[in-house]
Amino acid sequence: MGIKISGIELENPLILASGILGSTGSSLNRIARTGAGAVVSKSIGIEPREGYEGPVLLKVDCGFLNALGLPNPSYKNFIEELEDFDRYCPLIISVFGSSSSEFVEVAEDLEDYADAFELNLSCPHVEGYGMEIGRDLTFVEDITREFKRSISRPTWVKLTPNVGEITEIGLAAEKGGADAVVAINTVKGLRIDVESGYPLLGNVYGGLSGRCIKPIGLAAVYSLYKKLKIPIIGVGGIEDYRDVLEYLMAGARCVEIGSALYYDLEIFKEIDSDLKRYLEENSLEMEDIIGLAHRKRKKKEKEKEKDREILPKDVVIKRIKRENKDVRTFFFEDALLDVRPGRYVMVWVRGIDEIPISLSYKDAITVERVGKTTESLFKLKEGDSIGIRGPFGNGFDIKGENILLIGGGIGIAPLLYLAEVFGEKKKDITTLIGSRSRETLLFLKEFEKISKVFVSTDDGSLGKKGSVLNMLDAEIFKQEYDMIYACGPEKMLRSLLEFFNEKDLLEKTQFSLSRIIKCGLGICGSCCIDPKGLRVCRDGPIFYGGEILNSEVGRYERDHTGRRRKV
Ligand SMILES: Cc1cc2nc3c(=O)[nH]c(=O)nc-3n(C[C@H](O)[C@H](O)[C@H](O)COP(=O)(O)O)c2cc1C
Repeated sequence: MGIKISGIELENPLILASGILGSTGSSLNRIARTGAGAVVSKSIGIEPREGYEGPVLLKVDCGFLNALGLPNPSYKNFIEELEDFDRYCPLIISVFGSSSSEFVEVAEDLEDYADAFELNLSCPHVEGYGMEIGRDLTFVEDITREFKRSISRPTWVKLTPNVGEITEIGLAAEKGGADAVVAINTVKGLRIDVESGYPLLGNVYGGLSGRCIKPIGLAAVYSLYKKLKIPIIGVGGIEDYRDVLEYLMAGARCVEIGSALYYDLEIFKEIDSDLKRYLEENSLEMEDIIGLAHRKRKKKEKEKEKDREILPKDVVIKRIKRENKDVRTFFFEDALLDVRPGRYVMVWVRGIDEIPISLSYKDAITVERVGKTTESLFKLKEGDSIGIRGPFGNGFDIKGENILLIGGGIGIAPLLYLAEVFGEKKKDITTLIGSRSRETLLFLKEFEKISKVFVSTDDGSLGKKGSVLNMLDAEIFKQEYDMIYACGPEKMLRSLLEFFNEKDLLEKTQFSLSRIIKCGLGICGSCCIDPKGLRVCRDGPIFYGGEILNSEVGRYERDHTGRRRKV
């Protein structure tokens, strides 16, 4: 039942968690001999620390509450303990610090003893350490990156559950170059002595561990598995092999066990043999189990999908707003399901044709008169109805605090819905919009209400003369943007792809593509783009820059027959 994780071969996936019998070489030897696949040391820092005054550990209803306060002899003095460790199994050294240089300083001297390092960015009760820095995305990414730059051993980042969205922290660690993440550390908690009124722990707050946190750990692992590419080590409340199975099925590759050693110091041997028996009896390999819950869920979703009809829904046009001579916004009477900025609907003008149009509000589309279908749409009146399939497509990935929107022509419309969503969240939005002339520029007033707006027109009748690209100057890049969103003519998108590629910002830039979409279901193939065969209708229409930099976008497209034509 051996398993490999971040390049280390373990005899089994069961690892001693940090902080439990991991302070001395001899106690690590003792646990290693009980059958652990690997052991993690107590978290070690720069200076000796005595930790907090007692009580430091309480056995509570369904687990433990601890506030030891990271007692440790400092990395220099820990070396003599490491000399005593006899390497019966791999050793992971847990490190804590208040800055990347502290993490690195500790690890540099211990590197010879470690098979990997675990960065404790998650202890919930020590000021200036652990969770206090582990909640900050930038810190996590930077510390991990700096650590990886200086230390050659595999690096695991241990995450705190005491955050809104643990996957964001996991992604930051992955971006920084982590080889694995460990989830979770303890959950912040408190108990009070009713007799005296004193908080029971010397430090007041502590970290909850044991059985009661298992569902929290499982939820963390499950959601991390959905988003991360690096392996996950699950920890929290594991007491028997069925708990281990749950973590593996949620997506963990290995697990760590801590509090349960209170009940049984031989727990590794027992779980190891139960797990082996389970796999044998069910003719399963470890790899069959890891992430199984996700595969089952997908299967269920696929089955549900088979029974779901996707037919045009009759939608009444409540209001028609003239934006300019050739552009109208059609507001719908009925709310659509699953609306999101960047998604599109297939609009069926009965007896004419069906065409894809992006949502410009949650309940509206903005349409430019360009052909027979849009011409017929323009003839409809308020109270008339159309057929709507969808919304379809992935939609924009909505994240970041400082946002740059770049829109050209009718491509401005999907960005309006996006801007409204960011506006509701009070984000800092900068908008660059361009058009042929003042008369044809869309949604200037709407954008001005929620963002700083810069305008360009081809004829110079409003704002800067020329295309939106002319606005991408030092003034715009005075500030940094967390995310950039672009939509407009393909030639403009191609120029933006090249521009942001040079600035090394493609990872932060999302492009909305517009192609001839016929089915919207991802199977007819009419909207596929070279060279990867990406389906604009279903893999898109929103793509990160890196996905389409070397594609046909802005170079050629296919017409209704499927023949290539220049854009
Ligand atoms: C007494 C005690 C001390 C701990 N010390 C540390 C530590 O130094 N570093 C760390 O990263 N986690 C520490 N933890 C957290 C554990 O490694 C583990 O993440 C948590 O207890 C959840 O696992 P469990 O439910 O199996 O105990 C400690 C936990 C306990 C109970």
